[in-house]
Amino acid sequence: MVNNAKKRLPGLVDVHVHLRVPGGEHKEDIRSGTAAALAGGFTSILAMPNTSPPLVTLPDYRAAQQLADSQALCDVRHFAGASADHLDALPRLGQEAVGLKIYMDQTYGPLRTASLVALMSCFRQWPREKPIAVHAEGLSIAVVIGLAAAYGRSVHLCHVSRRDEIRLIAQAKQQGLAVTCEVTPHHLFLTEGDVERLGSLGDMRPRLATRDDVNALWAHLDTVIDCIATDHAPHTLGEKQSDPPPPGVPGLETALPLMLTAVVEGRLTMDRLVALMATQPRRIFGLPEQPDTWVEVEVGTPYLIENGELYTKCGWSPFSGMQVRGRVETVWLRGRSAFERDGAGHRYGDVHQRRSTPPNESVV
Ligand code: NCD
Ligand code: ZN
Ligand code: ZN
Ligand code: ZN
Repeated sequence: MVNNAKKRLPGLVDVHVHLRVPGGEHKEDIRSGTAAALAGGFTSILAMPNTSPPLVTLPDYRAAQQLADSQALCDVRHFAGASADHLDALPRLGQEAVGLKIYMDQTYGPLRTASLVALMSCFRQWPREKPIAVHAEGLSIAVVIGLAAAYGRSVHLCHVSRRDEIRLIAQAKQQGLAVTCEVTPHHLFLTEGDVERLGSLGDMRPRLATRDDVNALWAHLDTVIDCIATDHAPHTLGEKQSDPPPPGVPGLETALPLMLTAVVEGRLTMDRLVALMATQPRRIFGLPEQPDTWVEVEVGTPYLIENGELYTKCGWSPFSGMQVRGRVETVWLRGRSAFERDGAGHRYGDVHQRRSTPPNESVV
């Protein structure tokens, strides 16, 4: 379809990233995570609050956002987390955070809000014009849609992965409910059949699904699915090889190559890719435009994803060894070169004039 073409895309937006700050800096930090974001074509990312401590109080939220403001190589905003013990913090967090993240089902970290009374408190207190994003699997999705209807507000469903879930979301949208959703590249490009090969490197929440589920996601990519988000969830290889392994896989640097490969193969259009990875996430989360910001990609030439090429501190990818046909060449952010890939390696520009040393030099 596209043959060895250079293309200019807008700066991409990833609304689901785990930067691991504070408390998980051995997995990822602001520098390495935002370097990985730029290398993947993302100029604006939203960071998740399941940190240690979790971002459920105003001081902890502010400390994380201030650190990102001083160290990030691209634009970073944080979600506040919902905690039944800190519901009183929601009004003030609601004035500052980009959105509220609610974990309804078990995943990495202790943050979990499963009681109805706590959920009702979140939906009642969180500002109506600010997003609520929810980790909800299976029946929990029906609960969240019910809450959105009852409180007359919008809700965003994270990493939707099953046929039944996407069908219910389609139905809710048909009824005019303000429900939006994201899917991850790993749920689009891997199935439960890959778990045997990948072992714990194929373990994340929601778990990889059946071929039928994956087909359903692809079938709804042009209609029901609002955005692609990576759920970049780095853990070290040592942690992934421990028992039990923490769930989660990195994804910032592989998302665009995978989606561009789908464009080459005629599985989606370039316009739809831009809608899913830039326009719609920016609109749903009310993020400002970034002037003079774009990504230059090369589309068509096949190459292999390699762990040694990654900027994420965890240094591995479930897609290692996979052949893809699209890569980021340069990223410009507000008129400045923020990332440049050349034959000998990668170079970072003087983003926001904040950079002192190249990020994560050891893996370059
Ligand atoms: C995420 C993590 O590691 O923080 N893990 C995962 O499997 N997706 C948490 C999450 O997004 O559910
Ligand atoms: Zn989740
Ligand atoms: Zn996540
Ligand atoms: Zn390199």
